[in-house]
Amino acid sequence: MSTAAPARKDFLSVLDFQATDLERCLEIAGHVKADRSLGRQAPTADALEGRHVAMLFEKASLRTRSTFEIAIVELGGNVVSLQPDAALGKREPVTDVARNLERWVDGIVIRTFSQKVLEEFAAAAPRLRVINALSDDQHPCQALADMLTLREQWGVVQGRTVTYVGDGNNVAVSLVHASLMLGINIHVVSPEGYQLPEWAVQQAASISRHGARLRLFTDAQDGVAGADAVYTDTWTSMGQEAEAIIRRSVFAPYQVNQALMARAKPGALFMHCLPAHRGEEVTEDVFESPASVVFDQAENRLHVQKALLSMLLAGPVKHP
Ligand code: CP
Ligand code: NVA
Repeated sequence: MSTAAPARKDFLSVLDFQATDLERCLEIAGHVKADRSLGRQAPTADALEGRHVAMLFEKASLRTRSTFEIAIVELGGNVVSLQPDAALGKREPVTDVARNLERWVDGIVIRTFSQKVLEEFAAAAPRLRVINALSDDQHPCQALADMLTLREQWGVVQGRTVTYVGDGNNVAVSLVHASLMLGINIHVVSPEGYQLPEWAVQQAASISRHGARLRLFTDAQDGVAGADAVYTDTWTSMGQEAEAIIRRSVFAPYQVNQALMARAKPGALFMHCLPAHRGEEVTEDVFESPASVVFDQAENRLHVQKALLSMLLAGPVKHP
């Protein structure tokens, strides 16, 4: 099983992967998932031996933080937990934080607001592998887990259709990227003013494989018709709390409920990155239905991130 590093040193976007990197990441994730019960006997148990990986979270997290910490430890690496008071740009410039850290650690997992800050950080530290653990624009690690979940459910994903219903946010952008790269048709249904950003729409044609199409809708019934999976996310992302009341009213017609699921194909999956808000973007009955694979997605965060870390960081240690 090759863990050859992708051409890009960082993973700030799904688009830092070639389609072949994405396929390989999912393949490795399948192996590490199957081998997890072997514990320290697993073939990847020492993949990050001698490696230090820092974690810096400027927004709340349950899944991403836990799964990265467990992934690093299970790969034999060392976690360096940075406190939020080391925040990017508050105490010293972002570039100085990056240039310090690259003298000590091999990689860093960052959850922050601005994608530009992540890019600036990564550019300032050419020896440091930087992983986007969610920004306002993208959530690429979530998309890796989503793709593994779909592969487990469907085997062949090419030619299937996933409909994302809700805010054209970070989760939606990365889902679009990964789906198109794997040949999955992706529908994005959002109210006017909350659609997928234009730059993400523009990228679609150049990243799509196997004839996969991105289609945008404002009507939820139309967008969900014939879907193999229906995906949603919170109406109010972290950092948008002041808009919560207006968003609850704008997005009310976009709730994923049994009536909307009935428009999808029989047996269609329900997906959510979590945390979920029952009674808002999804009803309790859909969330708890047999169609729901949300906890498989959450579990798969661990396996895909182990695969990602081993692709970016396994190999001989070369500290300064
Ligand atoms: N889905 C996800 O990223 O969850 P957390 O915000 O809890 O990390
Ligand atoms: N769109 C959500 C995802 C949380 C995992 C947010 O950014 O808050």
